[in-house]
Amino acid sequence: MAFGTWRLLNDAEVGTPEGLLGRLKTCLDLGITTIDTAEIYGGYRVEELVGAALALDAGVRSRMEIVTKAGIYVPCEFHPDRKTAFYNTTADRLVRSAEKSLRFLGVETIDLFLVHRPDWFTHPDETAAGLNRLVASGKVRAAGVSNYTVTQFDALSARVERPLVTNQVQFSPFCCDPLFDGTFDQCFARGIRPMAWSPTGGGRLFRGDDEAGARFRAAAEGLSGHYGGASVDQLCCAWGLSHPVGPLVITGTNRDERLRSFAGGAGIRLEREHWYALTEAARGRKIP
Ligand SMILES: NC(=O)c1ccc[n+]([C@@H]2O[C@H](COP(=O)([O-])OP(=O)(O)OC[C@H]3O[C@@H](n4cnc5c(N)ncnc54)[C@H](OP(=O)(O)O)[C@@H]3O)[C@@H](O)[C@H]2O)c1
Repeated sequence: MAFGTWRLLNDAEVGTPEGLLGRLKTCLDLGITTIDTAEIYGGYRVEELVGAALALDAGVRSRMEIVTKAGIYVPCEFHPDRKTAFYNTTADRLVRSAEKSLRFLGVETIDLFLVHRPDWFTHPDETAAGLNRLVASGKVRAAGVSNYTVTQFDALSARVERPLVTNQVQFSPFCCDPLFDGTFDQCFARGIRPMAWSPTGGGRLFRGDDEAGARFRAAAEGLSGHYGGASVDQLCCAWGLSHPVGPLVITGTNRDERLRSFAGGAGIRLEREHWYALTEAARGRKIP
């Protein structure tokens, strides 16, 4: 599992270096040693917060791996001239962004650097050149992508000197696309593991007014006894982690007790029929 930092600044308690350090210690207690962040998170402010939290405790820093991403540029306070959001995964942009991430995070190497989204206006030769430079210089230990289609992944893979190690995609009982669009088949074929963002559908699992969430909750409550009284969030966590492609589930809760609860699902291996029952419930369609 990984701890996601997209929503950190939504929360006054965890949105400070001390508050975040506390949450990272909880992660370590739970065996979560990966932080997932990105240049753009929190209006380009979250990486600095992560760096400030890690600077408070070298012991915590030494036990955590950092994943960050680059390539999305939106109108923001630092660029008042920008009118339209755009993607830029040209070589120079990727290298500059990674160097900025290194400074903000206060580290010498990024463990895993991802192209955040496919850039429709850049030749894959360019993107590959940037990733190759970053890996060759040691600024980045490994490179991957996020939200890439299978064909975009193939086009970039053919040009990088070291294999891309992951595709970080949306995957949850509320978004099963990677099961059907070839993403997971490609991971099997290449022997890599995907990362799964928004594992509870960004909180849909818990919303009273969400029909798919209500169906999943009812199905999970029916199975709870079979799994020693596991809670709905734990069965949702187990749903993602149980898939044989081995997704690295990125949880996004800012709350300590919810993090502890969700991570409790990591010890559960869902039985085949139960995994299908939960999938059927969330999708609202009979398994054909
Ligand atoms: N690569 C990409 O394009 C991409 C896109 C999106 C996200 N990500 C990554 O994936 C991470 C996770 O995404 P996510 O935050 O959408 O994941 P998530 O874990 O599915 O959703 C988190 C949301 O659910 C709420 N929640 C969690 N447990 C709850 C509970 N028991 N009751 C009520 N609400 C609950 C959280 O609120 P509280 O904080 O109040 O608990 C938060 O608003 C992000 O932080 C980011 O690192 C990557």
